[in-house]
Amino acid sequence: VRVAIFASGTGSNAMALINKAKELPNSSLTIEFVLSDKLNAPVLEKAKNAGVRTYLIEKKQTREQHEAEILGVLREHHVDWVLLAGYMRLVSGSFLKQLSQWHDGHSQVVNIHPSLLPEYPGKDSIARAHTDKAEKTGVTIHLVDEGMDTGSILLQEALFLNPHHPLQTWAEEIHRLEHKMYTRFLQDLAFKKHPTNHFQETY
Ligand code: GRF
Repeated sequence: VRVAIFASGTGSNAMALINKAKELPNSSLTIEFVLSDKLNAPVLEKAKNAGVRTYLIEKKQTREQHEAEILGVLREHHVDWVLLAGYMRLVSGSFLKQLSQWHDGHSQVVNIHPSLLPEYPGKDSIARAHTDKAEKTGVTIHLVDEGMDTGSILLQEALFLNPHHPLQTWAEEIHRLEHKMYTRFLQDLAFKKHPTNHFQETY
């Protein structure tokens, strides 16, 4: 199972996945590379230091050209699964279609989002939930479609956070849950061939 991680920022989820992959020596899973669209994304340096190949592919021209370049790298590495981890860009239907054509029409792009979707899609979800003193929040892992955090939900876990605690505490708790869920997801990917249907049945 060949995995690529796309990230645009800090990379705490990307690093959790990289570290987990190192603990799975008996699986056939490999993290092929980390790709960023942002020049100064700290995730690039972190992944490099962990011995993972990195690609910086900035969007210089059209979205089509940018995605064609990305598909080229995915193809070169025979990537099976793309895990988005703070990748701050939507992907097009054509990108998803081309990728799924290599895989019997199965969607192979997954995202993690710090809310109980469909609540709080998009940016600053944690801050918005905190401002609203949301009674419950959580984390969602979902298949990626063209929309903003709208694809089929694979996994969801709720958190009940204290509305009096600061935003930073909320963020820490939610990120901790993200790392737990995404690494578990990676472990499941490592040992199942086409987990999509399986996940829908199991969770
Ligand atoms: C995470 O909260 C993820 O759910 C969201 O973007 C954030 C990325 O954080 N999509 P990090 O770069 O993994 O630390």
